[in-house]
Amino acid sequence: MENVILIGFMGAGKTTVGKLLAKELQMSFLDTDERIEVEQGRSIPEIFATDGEQCFRDLETELLKKMQEDTKNSVISVGGGLPVREENRELLRKLGTVIYLSASKETILSRVKNDGTRPMLNSDDLEARVEKLMHDRERLYKAAAHLDIRTDERSVARVLQIIRQELFKAQ
Ligand code: S3P
Repeated sequence: MENVILIGFMGAGKTTVGKLLAKELQMSFLDTDERIEVEQGRSIPEIFATDGEQCFRDLETELLKKMQEDTKNSVISVGGGLPVREENRELLRKLGTVIYLSASKETILSRVKNDGTRPMLNSDDLEARVEKLMHDRERLYKAAAHLDIRTDERSVARVLQIIRQELFKAQ
């Protein structure tokens, strides 16, 4: 089966859904953040603190290019900011079927509020920060995605069921 790529805002459920989907479809699971951390031998907050956001974004693009060659039969969860670069959106669509997991601001806030591992959310006003980033990114996620699936008020099992239905319909 073609790779399945999950995109969306931080806290949209990409990693949780991705791991389960990979298991159900008997595919490998891959997380771009995790792969960058392993390859760099340091955490994302460390990369941001030492070399800045642009360096992290370059690492994302580099990884995406590498994945065009070496990644098959995988469910891939990508960092929330990766689809912001136009080049990355093109690379994502070449890599497989891109699914946008969307959620409301309220849902996102409830999921990320106590998380200190996301440098993009370091802010005195978390709500305003999330609102602004979501607003800026929404159309970019939609432009990158083949499918848009809302996760609000849906269980993980239901989201998985919808994804499976959509994937098999598309085949
Ligand atoms: C980011 C999202 C994070 C991670 C990094 C930047 C973003 O991934 O890539 O902290 O810009 O939205 P998750 O979406 O998996 O949290």
